[in-house]
Amino acid sequence: MSERERPEGERSELENFSIVGETAIGWDAKTAPNETVDEEGRIVPSGGFGIHDPRAPSRRVYDDPEVVAMREEFRAKNGWKAIEICAPHELKRIARIFRRDGYVVVKDLLDTETLERFREGCTRVLRDILAIPGFEGRKYITETGRLPHRYSYGTASASRHMMHDPVWASMIDLPTTTPILTEIMGSPDYFVSGGGGDLALPGAIEMQHLHTDGIDMGANPDVRLDYARSVGLVDIPDHKAFADLDFRTQRLVIERTPPSMTINFVMTDLTWENGPIRQIPGTHATVASPPKPEDEPDWMRFAALVGAPAGSGVFRDHRAWHSGTPNLSKEIRCLPNLEFVPPWHDERHFMKSMPHDIWETLTPHGQQICRHIKQDSGVWPFGAGVMHPLAGGRKAAHKASKEAQRN
Ligand SMILES: [Fe+2]
Repeated sequence: MSERERPEGERSELENFSIVGETAIGWDAKTAPNETVDEEGRIVPSGGFGIHDPRAPSRRVYDDPEVVAMREEFRAKNGWKAIEICAPHELKRIARIFRRDGYVVVKDLLDTETLERFREGCTRVLRDILAIPGFEGRKYITETGRLPHRYSYGTASASRHMMHDPVWASMIDLPTTTPILTEIMGSPDYFVSGGGGDLALPGAIEMQHLHTDGIDMGANPDVRLDYARSVGLVDIPDHKAFADLDFRTQRLVIERTPPSMTINFVMTDLTWENGPIRQIPGTHATVASPPKPEDEPDWMRFAALVGAPAGSGVFRDHRAWHSGTPNLSKEIRCLPNLEFVPPWHDERHFMKSMPHDIWETLTPHGQQICRHIKQDSGVWPFGAGVMHPLAGGRKAAHKASKEAQRN
């Protein structure tokens, strides 16, 4: 596959775009619908995170009749009738909805200045992701194992996270989010495991398949029971072990102790048209798999969080079924995130993605909750700072970074 010289028009698009408002980024007609690629950019069949959407229009063109028809259907049907939106101080309500639905939307998490900082970071890093021209006339390289025009700040980073970026790091301990996380987790002793987030360019016409971000294997049930009991998440007598509990109580313990969760921050108002995240309520406690794309009922297809305003965030239990939806607009949809694990989490699984120097800039609480992802002083987290849509490019950067530091 040959790389091409990027024409002047596209270069200036990339230099000047913003994630807020209309943009010429996206809508690349040369990138076929459902075209997914492997780690070197070779076209591969449906699979992994690139499960093909059987309903996708046949051309990636803004005013193609099939796209126009799809837009009309989404205008009429997309989004829950009215999503519940909490204010940051409504801690009890937030935790209740999170535990009931597996997610909750909270507005006003980011003040104007913080939102602007996050938008700048998202724009800057997206520019890096899109920097390499696509193969054979395409505008962009599709990310390995994903649907076209959809990228993840986390998986496109050669360190797998964005914790080396001062903007992402500065969101770790916000006056609005820390009390909410403490309420949901039951204590302030939770940890940050990383962060990144996802984005859909205009023209991401495929619906991502419903999935979970973490399957709960029911690990450490007694540790979870002890923790849930100690912080009041469940009311179960001290002498009872997990094995002594009836099925419903065991299930309650597992439900109340998500092994991991995320906050996705909303950079621009989520609309019926710009590819908001969709969430299926109550599925955080479901062990069955989500339906395949062809079997999805309409109420799941259109279960997007339409109406979540810029500056809000979606607190998500990773177990809940969710996905990105088609971005039929001319605006980029970014949902940068931070990922958290509860105090009872097994610390062996942390990736050291945060440079020591960044860690030193955090608040005392921020330092506390990031201590397991911090790299040692003088060691740069392997691969951090290199963004590449292809897994092959990221692997090479990770390896080079490791070798450079060994020598
Ligand atoms: Fe996901």
